[in-house]
Amino acid sequence: MTFEEEMSQIKFNDKVVIITGAGSGLGRCYALEFAKRGAKVVVNDPGSALDGSDTNRSVADRVVAEIRSAGGIAVANYDSVDSMAGANHIVATALDNFQTLDVLVNNAGILRDKTLLKLSEADWDAVIAVHLKGAFAVTQAAFGVMKARHYGRIVNTTSGAALYGNFGQSNYAAAKMALVGLMNSVSIEGAKYNIKCNCIAPVAASRMTADLMPEEMLERFDPATVAPMVLYLCSEQNQESKMIFNCAAGWFSRTEILCSDGVRIGDGSGAISPEDILKNWEKITAIENAKPLNNLMDTFSYVS
Ligand code: NAI
Repeated sequence: MTFEEEMSQIKFNDKVVIITGAGSGLGRCYALEFAKRGAKVVVNDPGSALDGSDTNRSVADRVVAEIRSAGGIAVANYDSVDSMAGANHIVATALDNFQTLDVLVNNAGILRDKTLLKLSEADWDAVIAVHLKGAFAVTQAAFGVMKARHYGRIVNTTSGAALYGNFGQSNYAAAKMALVGLMNSVSIEGAKYNIKCNCIAPVAASRMTADLMPEEMLERFDPATVAPMVLYLCSEQNQESKMIFNCAAGWFSRTEILCSDGVRIGDGSGAISPEDILKNWEKITAIENAKPLNNLMDTFSYVS
């Protein structure tokens, strides 16, 4: 192998990785792949049912046993991500066992799908708690360690249901879109500490999608087709941050929140009428020259 080839290899030797919800589906697949490439993995999973009820420690234990029997290094953690104490203990598990932390994959998730009018407060709260508060809580605990070390890679799991919309998932879509907002701030705050934070929007065969796709389709949506993007984004080689990637059955694409040139009506000093909006509707909604912005301050350039 040449020096260049050696340098282009994605390895995680001496890297410590936390994957939340790593007991099944996508998280399990990431855990196995990180371990194969030398990572020391914290397999977090309380072993919940799809709706977040129940616990079953054997779910995380099985993945740890699988990694160890293949010669890899892993430890189980059974905390729920949705409390600050649980999140702190997940990070403490990494520090106590492996003394450091390099990578966090916020993957834990549940579903409580209902149409808006049927959604109960409990269904709303549970989904927001696991996806959003959970990602916040573990990220906050991890960020302190990463900041001190000037190194970190974080991946949040959003969803096409949030980015593009889906019937009967307003709780899930709201929580998953909030993970994009969390990524935006974390990546900006992490920039000077070499902490990169990105989002993936996966589609994969798991218990979450078992009822949605026919058998022959499920075969093409192996979680193993999503894992390479997660590993890349969590590698030293990756220098990108604040990006969102669709990953499904071998399809990888960047998706973005864009800002169009729009139109400036007046100079801000005079009255603007609803009729002015009507008159300028085409210019306001034109998306042809839209571009991603680095941060909120960039919007001021349109009115300066
Ligand atoms: P899954 O149900 O197989 O895996 C989710 C895991 O999260 C489970 O092992 C579960 O025990 C764990 N979990 C649940 N509550 C938890 C908590 N409070 N703390 C820690 N762990 C908890 O589902 P899948 O498909 O592997 O989902 C992984 C992630 O990908 C989820 O965030 C999901 O919303 C997201 N996603 C999946 C898609 C798919 O097509 N499978 C599509 C878009 C997003």
